[in-house]
Amino acid sequence: MTTAPQQPTAETVVRDLTAARDRTLHLTDLDEPELLRQHDPLMSPMVWDLAHIGQQEDLWLLRGGEAGRPGVLPVDVEALYDAFTHPRAVRAGLPLLPPVEARGFVADVRARVLDGIEAAGRSDDPGTALFPAAMVVSHEQQHGETMLQTLQLRSGPAVLGAGTALPPGRPGVAGTSVLVPAGPCQLGVDGVEEPFSLDNERPAHTVDVPAFRIGRVPVTNAEYARFVADEGYRTPRWWSERGWAHVAEAGLERPMTWHADGTRTRFGTVEEVPGDEPVQHVTFFEAEAYAAWAGARLPTEVEWEKAASWDPATGTRRRFPWGASEPSAQLANLDGVALRPAPVGAYPAGASAYGVEQLLGDVWEWTSSAFTAWPGFTPMLYAQYSEPFFGGDYRVLRGGSWAVGASTLRPSFRNWDHPQRRQVFSGIRLAWDV
Ligand code: AVJ
Ligand code: FE
Repeated sequence: MTTAPQQPTAETVVRDLTAARDRTLHLTDLDEPELLRQHDPLMSPMVWDLAHIGQQEDLWLLRGGEAGRPGVLPVDVEALYDAFTHPRAVRAGLPLLPPVEARGFVADVRARVLDGIEAAGRSDDPGTALFPAAMVVSHEQQHGETMLQTLQLRSGPAVLGAGTALPPGRPGVAGTSVLVPAGPCQLGVDGVEEPFSLDNERPAHTVDVPAFRIGRVPVTNAEYARFVADEGYRTPRWWSERGWAHVAEAGLERPMTWHADGTRTRFGTVEEVPGDEPVQHVTFFEAEAYAAWAGARLPTEVEWEKAASWDPATGTRRRFPWGASEPSAQLANLDGVALRPAPVGAYPAGASAYGVEQLLGDVWEWTSSAFTAWPGFTPMLYAQYSEPFFGGDYRVLRGGSWAVGASTLRPSFRNWDHPQRRQVFSGIRLAWDV
């Protein structure tokens, strides 16, 4: 067991809700046509994300999840924001709330939820009572990352700035690995130690993990470029059968944002591909093929979580890879402000007990694992958050990208997407059998 964190308070949850909202309003501070447009068939128009954020907050915090109770929006309007009935590709054709009304709606909901959060904070068990609000923070922050994916896919002149400065990398760390000796560890977390963990991270259970090696840092652009230059995308032996079929069908030649001349487009700006940054915007199939070419494999999510959270010296789990302190700009690249991953070696103080670096932040890391329930899984308040996706055609991504809201991330956090997707800020960490 990890030591339980300090009991959360209404104050910290309101702070996190406000930070999530500030980001939402910043990302949607665009001309109306930009918000209404479907920039890519994979993404929603951003005005859908905006009102959907408010609709979910209304459902979970004003109605306790009872969709049959009247909400702030008329029933037929609210129905437009149900992610299960309207696939992303058709959302621009729906009679959505225009941007001004969507902004008014989310502000109205927020004003009404604050009293309930104060009351939850005064409960005997604030961790449990504040869970719905923390879940809403996580939901809004996840859509913030989704909107950043939309803005990356958008064509046209840049609308975001250059991003904040990042610490420099360290030479000599790319391509190195560490040994994680065999032994048991705790996988997943319980509500007592992590009151705001989501359903798929629970419950905590012990697993025995054979020894393995894992990359100290994610695979860099320079490393990945050697795979491209070595005809990696034209050599079927590196690819799974499905991966190879996808390369042909989608015409893949290099990561999503790269051009043939060594440049990339990042949020509308063309720039040199920086060699020491983790590669991002690769599919699971590309990650798997790169690993095969490099004489390695992808880690399982169990290996990933052990490398990120287990402390073999004490036989306990750390709350974060580096220990107990909350994420900060010295420890990890999070919160979507840098608009890019940091160079490898930028966060020596963020290393895990095994010496693995940049586990949280920078890029989501593809694992070889399908998305399944931990033994003893029980759906929580948002019962459709994970369960409909278990056993589907998904691979788990771990760690969290530079775009993730820091307050919502833990080493147990599990993300998932289809293996052919690369709009995600996804990268690669290698592993090896020993
Ligand atoms: C956890 C990122 C896969 O976007 O499909 C947002 C998050 N769920 N609203 C998704 C989510 C409901 C989810 N991922
Ligand atoms: Fe959602």
